[in-house]
Amino acid sequence: MNSLRRSLLFCYPRPTIKIQCSSFHSTVSVMLPKVVATRRLLPDSQARLERLKNIELVQWQGEHTMPREQLLESVKGADALICMLSDKIDKQVFDAAGPQLKLVTTLSVGHDHIDLKTAREKKIKIGYTPDVLTDATADLAALLTLAAARNMKQGIDAVQNGGWQDWRAAWLCGYQFTNKTLGVVGLGRIGQAVAKRLGAFGINRLIYSGRTKKEGVDGELVPLDQLLKEADFIVVCCSLTSDTKEMFDYDAFKKMKKNAIFVNISRGGVVKQADLAQALKEKLIAGAGLDVTTPEPLPLDDPLQSLDNCVVLPHIGSATWDTRSTMSDMMVDNVLAVLENKTIPYELK
Ligand code: GLV
Repeated sequence: MNSLRRSLLFCYPRPTIKIQCSSFHSTVSVMLPKVVATRRLLPDSQARLERLKNIELVQWQGEHTMPREQLLESVKGADALICMLSDKIDKQVFDAAGPQLKLVTTLSVGHDHIDLKTAREKKIKIGYTPDVLTDATADLAALLTLAAARNMKQGIDAVQNGGWQDWRAAWLCGYQFTNKTLGVVGLGRIGQAVAKRLGAFGINRLIYSGRTKKEGVDGELVPLDQLLKEADFIVVCCSLTSDTKEMFDYDAFKKMKKNAIFVNISRGGVVKQADLAQALKEKLIAGAGLDVTTPEPLPLDDPLQSLDNCVVLPHIGSATWDTRSTMSDMMVDNVLAVLENKTIPYELK
């Protein structure tokens, strides 16, 4: 390990405790449970984690993702691993950790970065953060939909780069929501919260596609093809699975309305990105708003970067102080539970 790496790694310096065995008048060393965290948590939860007694805490202090080789090294002998969605937790990580690993808990609701099959085989529990990021993520989806519909990227660029020279009647005209159709792909908790928010802007019809009809929702379950053809705004909230991988390709964009605004807050992998760039360039659709891309970060020379009808944000759906603090606390609750052999409160079943 080079010295910079070492300085970015915080190791709570008590790997063993000594226990006096009175009956034998001897002392044995007991390994403390090891908790590895690939990033610092939000301040209150970080303090809680550091206050945990009788654990060996190994935590990456760097501002950016823990380097892969560091993760593989640090995870050796871990009982619990706190990870982020930017860490790939695959078989190599599970194998490097060793058979004592009991919990991997991720600061995200999405879990496509974790090899669930191997976790199941190795009987490792997976923790995550359901429910609590619904509002923050739905807020951001609404923001992206508005931003893409109202040419926010071009507007800001014009103000900053001298393109704003006078007032023009048709300049930067976009699309409004009044009496329009919203199509949500994956109407789970977040999808419903997005529909509620955009409903306040005047949407008068909600259609959605997915596996099941949602009871108590004022919307219509339709086949995906119908949604693509009829929706003015399409917001993707489904999770990334083998079924949804690259489901938005050129053919899908071709079916959409010319005025359609396409928004993705799920995972970059649901979109065939080169096809989206092509569709935007050819004006097959009016605009796109993305909080997620492939890869992340999106390279500066990616075709999407230069399109003025595409607003891209750096995967910040859940990034509010309230939500990320709650998510961080859930990580600590999960770790505490596994160390005390209790039921994991936020376990992915
Ligand atoms: C964010 O994308 C999450 O999965 O929590």
